[in-house]
Amino acid sequence: MSNDAKVLQRNGPVAHIDLASIVHNCRVVRDAAPNSQIMAVIKADAYGHGLGQVARTLSPHVDALAVARVTEACELRDVGIEDAIIVLQGFASRSELDQCIEGGFLPVIHSDAQVGMMLTEPEYPVWLKVDTGMHRLGLRPSQLMEVCPQLNVIGVMSHLANSDQPDHPLNAAQLEAVQSCTEGLPYPLSLANSGAVLSMPDCHLDWVRPGVMLFGSSADGRQDDRLRESMSLSAPILSVQLLDEGDRVGYGSTWTAEERCRIAVVGVGYADGYPREISHAEVQTHLGRRTVVGRVSMDMLTILLRDDDAFKVGDRVTLWGEGLSISQVAMWAGTIPYTLMTGLAGRVHREYAD
Ligand SMILES: Cc1ncc(COP(=O)(O)O)c(C=O)c1O
Repeated sequence: MSNDAKVLQRNGPVAHIDLASIVHNCRVVRDAAPNSQIMAVIKADAYGHGLGQVARTLSPHVDALAVARVTEACELRDVGIEDAIIVLQGFASRSELDQCIEGGFLPVIHSDAQVGMMLTEPEYPVWLKVDTGMHRLGLRPSQLMEVCPQLNVIGVMSHLANSDQPDHPLNAAQLEAVQSCTEGLPYPLSLANSGAVLSMPDCHLDWVRPGVMLFGSSADGRQDDRLRESMSLSAPILSVQLLDEGDRVGYGSTWTAEERCRIAVVGVGYADGYPREISHAEVQTHLGRRTVVGRVSMDMLTILLRDDDAFKVGDRVTLWGEGLSISQVAMWAGTIPYTLMTGLAGRVHREYAD
């Protein structure tokens, strides 16, 4: 890419990824679950942070990496990652099973169809997933005693439906179910994702599977002081407009100036992953918080300036990150940090700092 193209890219939205924060958050996992191995969940492009970069950063600090799909595991091998890779959804076809074997991926077997396919490769190591109450993916607990002797099982996992609510009664029931259906079996167990790593030590078991906490957010959307947010999204001011009283702004003309004022047009929109449905929202600027007015459009949004604001074209504002947590923005948008991180578009330039 030419230097000119690079400069132009920086003039658009940029996701600043702080790799040191990801390492810090990984240490928080170690401290919280010192007797468990860590399977870092980095599916969905490492929650929008960039699969290869995050895998390389985490590799020395974790015991295995986990992704949802075989294609994601292949992507990791293609960029030279040699770690153990668990594929949480396992394979969907014979050819995907072959890809697992070729890449040395460890598939998670959750269905009768996968068990049937695995019977042709009984020596190949697999994890089993058991459904203890999420009722999404997983073998029935009663199947384990029959399935286990037929395959080379190296671990059994289950997934919590309510790890964002530590007091939810299903958490204890799921823990009890995974322990009782594997009683007498010699396999390592795994149940805890981020919510349980942070607040349910009983669920840590042999392997923890943190995802969102590695990127500084907690499962319940509240900020946890132990964690550092790893992503900050900024975008440039494209234009400053003077409005008269009564002027309306943006698609649908939903916002009306109550008096003569100025707005700034910021170069980021829903096609970049900024949520269009957000009701109230603020951005962080070098002069403090400013409010988003009018509808978020595909590539732009507008903010209301104060009388003496000296913004100029090219100044950058922060959509989330330094001074404005992603959890807060997610709350304004009626969503969770997961969707903002993973919804960040491919066209947003990622800039990495160690
Ligand atoms: C099976 C499994 N384990 C672990 C995780 C990580 O969850 P979290 O990001 O809440 O830590 C996920 C994420 O959805 C998952 O599907």
